[in-house]
Amino acid sequence: MPHAEVTAQSHVDQGLRAQLLACWTDVANAGGAVGFVAPVTAADVEPLLAAVVDRVHEGRALIALLRVDGEVAGFAVLSLSLSPLRRHWATVLRVQVHPSRQRQGLGRVLMSGVHDIARARGMEFLHLTVRGGTGLEAFYQGFGYQEFGRMPGAIRVAPGDDRDELHLTCRL
Ligand SMILES: CC(C)(COP(=O)(O)OP(=O)(O)OC[C@H]1O[C@@H](n2cnc3c(N)ncnc32)[C@H](O)[C@@H]1OP(=O)(O)O)[C@@H](O)C(=O)NCCC(=O)NCCS
Repeated sequence: MPHAEVTAQSHVDQGLRAQLLACWTDVANAGGAVGFVAPVTAADVEPLLAAVVDRVHEGRALIALLRVDGEVAGFAVLSLSLSPLRRHWATVLRVQVHPSRQRQGLGRVLMSGVHDIARARGMEFLHLTVRGGTGLEAFYQGFGYQEFGRMPGAIRVAPGDDRDELHLTCRL
């Protein structure tokens, strides 16, 4: 039985950065809704990863890192607010499991780890968005997320194919 664990990373070294980049690129190229439309190269993904790493190193985000038997298998970003009025909630971004490991229960492990990390930091709510038309809201509804609104046509996946952005929240 493989050993899966989720840890909070507040520092990203060069080795981890390369693994996150490879994972994110593979997930996007497999059709994942993680900020891109396939095909992408690592060079396309790198600027977004750099922005995430900057936020992590500024204390404004954490990486929830999923490892299976020590190997990076996925991750999510927990984006924190600096406002003292908003410290009880965070936004979850870029939830992903490597395509070679999807549909094996690891997304469930990852989200459970995200929730544990958020609870340990005193958070009470999480927020995330889903690209309309993907059906991914069903994945999150399984963890207690509910839709509370949508931004019409917010995501242009192709000319003439604008998708709503669904906003979901969960009370921890
Ligand atoms: C979404 C994702 C993280 C789920 O991870 P996973 O390891 O495949 O999911 P699991 O095997 O843990 O599945 C957990 C449950 O969610 C359901 N589920 C998984 N993927 C789903 C999907 N794409 N749509 C709807 N339900 C889904 C499963 O059926 C399972 O339900 P069950 O326990 O009742 O059978 C993964 O498919 C992924 O990385 N996708 C590409 C990136 C992406 O689009 N991320 C979402 C950003 S909003």
